[in-house]
Amino acid sequence: NMSLGKRALIKGLLYGAAVNKDSLSANPQLVASVAKECAIIVSEWELKWNFLRPTSTSFDFMPADWLADFARTHGLLFRGHTLVWHEAMPKWFLKTINSKNAKQLLLEHITTVVKHYAGNIHSWDVVNEAINLQDRRSDGLRKTPWLQFIGRDYIEIAFRAAAEADPKAMLVYNDYGLEYDTPEHEAKRKAVLNLLKNLKSKGTPIHALGIQSHLSGNETRFNSQKFQKFLSEIANLDLKILITEIDVKDKNLPVDLKVRDRIVAATYEDYLSVVLDEPAVIAVLTWGLSDRYTWLSEYQPRRDGAKVRPLPLDANFKRKLAWNAIARAF
Ligand code: XIL
Repeated sequence: NMSLGKRALIKGLLYGAAVNKDSLSANPQLVASVAKECAIIVSEWELKWNFLRPTSTSFDFMPADWLADFARTHGLLFRGHTLVWHEAMPKWFLKTINSKNAKQLLLEHITTVVKHYAGNIHSWDVVNEAINLQDRRSDGLRKTPWLQFIGRDYIEIAFRAAAEADPKAMLVYNDYGLEYDTPEHEAKRKAVLNLLKNLKSKGTPIHALGIQSHLSGNETRFNSQKFQKFLSEIANLDLKILITEIDVKDKNLPVDLKVRDRIVAATYEDYLSVVLDEPAVIAVLTWGLSDRYTWLSEYQPRRDGAKVRPLPLDANFKRKLAWNAIARAF
């Protein structure tokens, strides 16, 4: 029956997934499943600094160009992820950056990369994960080299440079740890809201909030009223909302596949039914499409060694209960 991408489009929404050149090149079944189920894709790796920047004075666009061509060939929209982050940085970065060159390094990267793809990117995650309350700063900003060497306006600087380089791209602030009814997530929602209010008050060209949505199957309390309130506060800043990296960790769920798949599916359905009630939400992307290629195999492996099953398609690209749950939410 109808694909996730088609179902979403009927509701005026975009559904897609994170992909990488390696797995697409290696697996024609993945290509077929992505082409069938998705309306948009995002680069899992290829538009991060460690792929784009072999040295402080050079760029390697080949892997990301391959993905941009893949998107075009299959009639898919393409999301850029991510221009400014503190992870996935090349080895030379920490040895090179200082208070004299940091702003130039940031501006040159954003301008060169965004111009290279100008007109072919649906939206950019301009800044990723800039809020971290453990760093105990009043503004909640994570202590990254960008903050250290440029100062707190590095975020505004980044968005303005991206808008200058591609006025057509939607510019997104992306973060995680916003979804649940815990003191930490509540505090982070407040800090992200303040950051976005502050950026908007200065006329920063920022168009959307990306909520990564890495969920954990029925381990943590979810309060739909509180989350719905947060979503509408974001929308009231004249921002759109993208669910940018949704998946459901099944690391601590029972080993029985039927039980696990049912809980994972229910987690997708409960969360997305709340999210898709907010008109400002325009897109839902899963962080991967098939269980065969999920970052959680490495980052959240099960102690019993069983393969994790966080995504809509199983490792043989068959639709799971999670697929039905996402389809129903649309
Ligand atoms: C992850 C990739 O999936 C991994 O393969 C890589 O080793 C590390 O990065 N939040 C993000 C993504 O914004 O960029 C991360 O992607 C997952 C968490």
